[in-house]
Amino acid sequence: MRIDVLTLFPEMIKAPFSESIIGRAIGKGMIELNVHDIRDYTFDKHRQADDTPFGGGAGMVMMVEPLYTAIKAIDPDDKAKKIITDASGERFEQTTAKKLMLEDWLLIVCGHYKGIDERIKKLFDFTEISIGDYVLTGGEIPALAIIDAVVRLVPGVIKEIDSAQSDSFFEGLLGYPEYTQPREYRGVGVPKVLLNGNHEQIRKWRLLKSLKKTLAKRPDLLEHRYLDDEEKMLLSLEDKDVEDDRK
Ligand SMILES: C[S@@+](CC[C@H](N)C(=O)[O-])C[C@H]1O[C@@H](n2cnc3c(N)ncnc32)[C@H](O)[C@@H]1O
Repeated sequence: MRIDVLTLFPEMIKAPFSESIIGRAIGKGMIELNVHDIRDYTFDKHRQADDTPFGGGAGMVMMVEPLYTAIKAIDPDDKAKKIITDASGERFEQTTAKKLMLEDWLLIVCGHYKGIDERIKKLFDFTEISIGDYVLTGGEIPALAIIDAVVRLVPGVIKEIDSAQSDSFFEGLLGYPEYTQPREYRGVGVPKVLLNGNHEQIRKWRLLKSLKKTLAKRPDLLEHRYLDDEEKMLLSLEDKDVEDDRK
């Protein structure tokens, strides 16, 4: 997969992706990440990429021309799936990440200051994406969130794909609780079912925990999700019927 990011602050994108799982995927050539400084596509000696808003008011607006020139230079044949980070865009969800993972090439535009001259949206076919109902100083953090969520789904990026499949939201449920060594810490043990080596019992216990957690914390997720017979049965269990799972 190829990902191009257009930003006024390239280091905000480069630095976080030099480490960890995504850094490794880039290092191995599984992901091609190109970060472009929009100022490289300006025409004056001050490399000006923003100006005051027409109509007045506080703040600066990113100019359309440098961005247009940059996008045309990077993707002259209009092949990339184009994303613009925007607080009023469609909400980024795990389902969005799954869809974007199927693309060969993503081009992500980061706004900054008061935002970008609206005309850019008329010149290219963008999907506008918001990462939540709050306003950040720029689109760089949203771009990082989008790239991270998408890239970790690309086969081979996470060593065992199971690891992504059992995370929250992947199957429309919240994730089950995880435990590791030691078996007991300050008197708190781990659920004994996880120590018995019975894979079927462990699978059921994890599904039960996912379902019960989702019901307790995010019942809205269950409203639109198909539940199979086993899931319905597990959800119907009363807490007192669920075996005490502490060691
Ligand atoms: C300070 S914001 C501009 C806010 C804009 N004037 C508005 O009312 O929505 C600057 C840039 O940050 C990015 N941004 C801020 N919050 C965001 C969010 N929740 N999701 C995605 N992008 C966001 C966008 O690229 C935006 O152009």
